[in-house]
Amino acid sequence: MKISVIGAGYVGLCTGLGFAKKGHSVIFHDVSRDVVERINRMEPAFYEPMVEDALKEAVAKRLAEASEDLDYAVSNSEITFICVPTPPKSDGSIDVAYIREASAALGKALSKKKGYHLVVMKSTVLPETTERIALPALEKNSNKVCGRDFGLCMNPEFLREGSALEDFLRPDRIVIGSFDQRSGDFLEGFYKGFGCPILRTSIKTAEMIKYVSNAFLATKISFSNEIGNACKKMGIDVYDVMKGVGMDKRISPHFLNAGIGFGGSCFPKDVSALISKSRDVDAQPLIMESVMEINREQPFKLIELLKKKGPIRGKSVSVLGLAFKADTDDIREAPSLRIVERLMQEGCEVRVYDPKAMGKFREKFPQISYFHSSRDCLKGSDVCIILTEWSEFRDLGENDFNLMRNKVIIEGRKVLNPSKVRGFEGICW
Ligand code: NAD
Ligand code: UDX
Repeated sequence: MKISVIGAGYVGLCTGLGFAKKGHSVIFHDVSRDVVERINRMEPAFYEPMVEDALKEAVAKRLAEASEDLDYAVSNSEITFICVPTPPKSDGSIDVAYIREASAALGKALSKKKGYHLVVMKSTVLPETTERIALPALEKNSNKVCGRDFGLCMNPEFLREGSALEDFLRPDRIVIGSFDQRSGDFLEGFYKGFGCPILRTSIKTAEMIKYVSNAFLATKISFSNEIGNACKKMGIDVYDVMKGVGMDKRISPHFLNAGIGFGGSCFPKDVSALISKSRDVDAQPLIMESVMEINREQPFKLIELLKKKGPIRGKSVSVLGLAFKADTDDIREAPSLRIVERLMQEGCEVRVYDPKAMGKFREKFPQISYFHSSRDCLKGSDVCIILTEWSEFRDLGENDFNLMRNKVIIEGRKVLNPSKVRGFEGICW
């Protein structure tokens, strides 16, 4: 089948390339000329495992192209996925300007197209956004009627950065919220062969499922961090505790890793948005407020621990890992941003290394020192802190840390191998 994708960022590009791997052909459309040109040059604008190879493969097989011309993308496809950003506003709610613009532009393109077309909302949007903002913009600009001339679904995306394409291709479930039976049946047919349960719901239920999934996962993390902070004071390794806890099938071992807290473009934004929406409808989001509060403080636990070991003013601190998680160059809401800022305020000399995220970090912190390897970064420093669980940090050993002037090592993510390194401490272990 032929599909088009509006907004070719993490979700849009991975969605399109995922469907191309299933044999469909995709036209990406993005308002950024740079994004469009990079896709056609087969150079993704971000680092994500498998994506560059998948893009090369899809372009070579003539299954993928990008265009600035939305009319072209829509008239040459049967389904359009909306994958534009839904960034947070200062009160935590989401900015729907991109959804409004993309829906209006898509409506205009639909007005020129003959035949039935399915519109699928994949962006993460609060309940009622698809029906109250996207749908009227589509109808008004197309002069067409939803349900008769075009279909509408809300199909949330659950992929994680760092394993985005893999997650897209192997989902635990596919959620399809549909305006009417025909729209939902069309999309369900399109998803045939994904080998996972497909859940059919109303549009606003599908919108809610996405937020609640993220809020629940974030809750597991903040809960583990709260327990981890207590374990630290009792001399207990929270990872040993959660191993025992996670063996209970009702709990599951996933998302119980304590550390410096969750970052990224989704959890902080989505939990804040659900808090804001709950307040709007006069429901008290007590648990979610605590989840965010714990997460705000958690990165600074690492600095507290550091200070217990002596004054940090004037100390040279090697920071290993800047990305919000491993296998991505994304630093959006990364705990490293707040930790580095605080270290600078405390008068430390900050030196950093990350295998992929230094380019983006340098745009925000041009004044600190960047190194091309862990060893170079460690050389002559007083303190080492580890903020991302990159697998290459698992290989660090005594020889590497012996390059330091003083050997104070604190992990914010559990990554070092105790059989290779001695004398390090974890934030909650
Ligand atoms: P992104 O910032 O990586 O990419 C969005 C793209 O949309 C950009 O390339 C931008 O230029 C383009 N764009 C903006 N307005 C446009 C318009 N009117 N027409 C065409 N293109 C337009 O964003 P993302 O991380 O892919 O997130 C997209 C949505 O998916 C958000 O709602 C997000 O919450 C959700 N989501 C993200 C993830 C993730 O891991 N990143 C996972 C699941 C869901
Ligand atoms: C998340 C959701 O997992 C995904 O389903 C959704 O589509 C987008 O948001 P992502 O943000 O890409 O994905 O990565 P994820 O692996 O969920 O990690 C988010 C943050 O939580 C990272 O900072 C990670 O380090 C942290 N985390 C994760 C923990 O601190 N402990 C854990 O046990 C798991």
